[in-house]
Amino acid sequence: MAIISAFQADDRGSNPRTRSIMQKEKEQDLMQKVISLCKRRGFVFPASEIYGGFANSYTYGPYGVTLKNNIKKLWWKKFVEDREDIVGIDGPIILHPRVWEASGHIGGFNDALVDCKKCNKRFRADHLVEDATGKDMEGKLSEMKNILDEKVDCPNCKKRDWTDVRNFNLMFATKTNAVAGEEEQIAYLRPETAGAIFIEFKNVVDSTRVKIPFGIAQIGKAFRNEIVAGNFIFRLREFEQMEIEYFIKPDADWETLFEKWLSLQEEFAMELGAKKEKLRRLEHPREKLSHYSRKTVDIEFDYPFGGFKELFGLAHRGDFDLTQHAKFSGEKLEYLDPETNTKYTPHVLEPTFGLDRSILASLLSAYAEEEVNGEMRTVMKFPKKIAPVQVAVFPLLKNKPELVQKAREIFLELKKDFVCEFDDNGNVGKRYRRQDEIGTPYCVTLDFESLEDSSVTVRDRDSMKQERIKISELTEYFKKSLK
Ligand code: GAP
Repeated sequence: MAIISAFQADDRGSNPRTRSIMQKEKEQDLMQKVISLCKRRGFVFPASEIYGGFANSYTYGPYGVTLKNNIKKLWWKKFVEDREDIVGIDGPIILHPRVWEASGHIGGFNDALVDCKKCNKRFRADHLVEDATGKDMEGKLSEMKNILDEKVDCPNCKKRDWTDVRNFNLMFATKTNAVAGEEEQIAYLRPETAGAIFIEFKNVVDSTRVKIPFGIAQIGKAFRNEIVAGNFIFRLREFEQMEIEYFIKPDADWETLFEKWLSLQEEFAMELGAKKEKLRRLEHPREKLSHYSRKTVDIEFDYPFGGFKELFGLAHRGDFDLTQHAKFSGEKLEYLDPETNTKYTPHVLEPTFGLDRSILASLLSAYAEEEVNGEMRTVMKFPKKIAPVQVAVFPLLKNKPELVQKAREIFLELKKDFVCEFDDNGNVGKRYRRQDEIGTPYCVTLDFESLEDSSVTVRDRDSMKQERIKISELTEYFKKSLK
């Protein structure tokens, strides 16, 4: 693919052949366990399920949406609020269609697809060819067709009868103009959030005190008509990105900045719980870079479906985007340097973070099974700052009103400062297991002794250690331990 292709992840993994069958089985098992926990505990549901499901789309359930919001908050704090050089925006999903002409998406944001004439299944032609030959035939449609005819059977029905290989644009088109009699105009759901950032460059410079180098950040939905079924929430048609365009002087020491951004991206992945050894950098080879890009690196995560694949990306995009939007809009998108009083078109570094892949990486990293007193417990060891529930409060017994009432008082008090849950269902052991699966760092149990000594038992999710804490000291205790 021409312009954006270098960013496209590949679901087939880095080197599937080197993974042993046992390892693959173990990984598939982990994936199935995480998917099933997500459904059972309300993190992620298959969307439109009562209608039989809808490919590549999922709903974040009550705990999933909280986890997602916590990750967004963490990102926004780290990259916007804690910095003096980055500001945020929130642009529309449907932008002027010329934006995507200027960015090259209308002409170049394509996948090479082919259909099996026997079973009508559709495939990524480049994937089939690469699997069969090990060759990357990017953009060479007729060569791909020849190879398919010569060597490749349909993975579904095992016959060999292919249509021509055609380019399909990944953007979702929609129509605007609701006035009767007026011609409808084609518009697109944005395929990335970056477009909305570039076109607000001038407004941000004119309305704030940003000075180069500075960044503009945005979190929001993006849409791509992906045909490859996508490993749970790894590849979706509708997903969220957290992106920054970081504008620099054309003659800046971009390599040092590039390295800093990569480190920050890895640091963020580790804040989500990813272990260092589960991350790696993959630099795109020179011949695959777009003409304007000096360097592009993917931060990859070791997913259980075939190995390392893209989690985040970082690209040096030169002045391509601002120059293109200036050309297509007729607006000058330059920066007047207050120190030198000269005007120039800034260059840009683009750190991009997939939110859904961040969630997936955090779910996979958190999942653990441990044997406790001869029984297995499943526990989601989320970093405390992204755990969907921070504290769960239990009365020891449901049928003792004095315990329930006091436990609810504690719950209502803690709720003012923390995300809390009250649970009096089943026995305490079962409640612990449930909170372990949600990933709640602390459980508070109020028992008969509590009525005497005004203390409760606080149980730590990871160590399972229990300690008695004075009710009056609980807020301070959690403020410290959840920090
Ligand atoms: N503006 C640059 C850009 O959009 P990209 O690599 O195409 O680059 C950025 O996308 C990030 O968005 C990826 O690193 C990935 O985390 C996420 N992403 C891309 N396509 C996705 C999809 N279909 N489903 C879920 N996440 C996706």
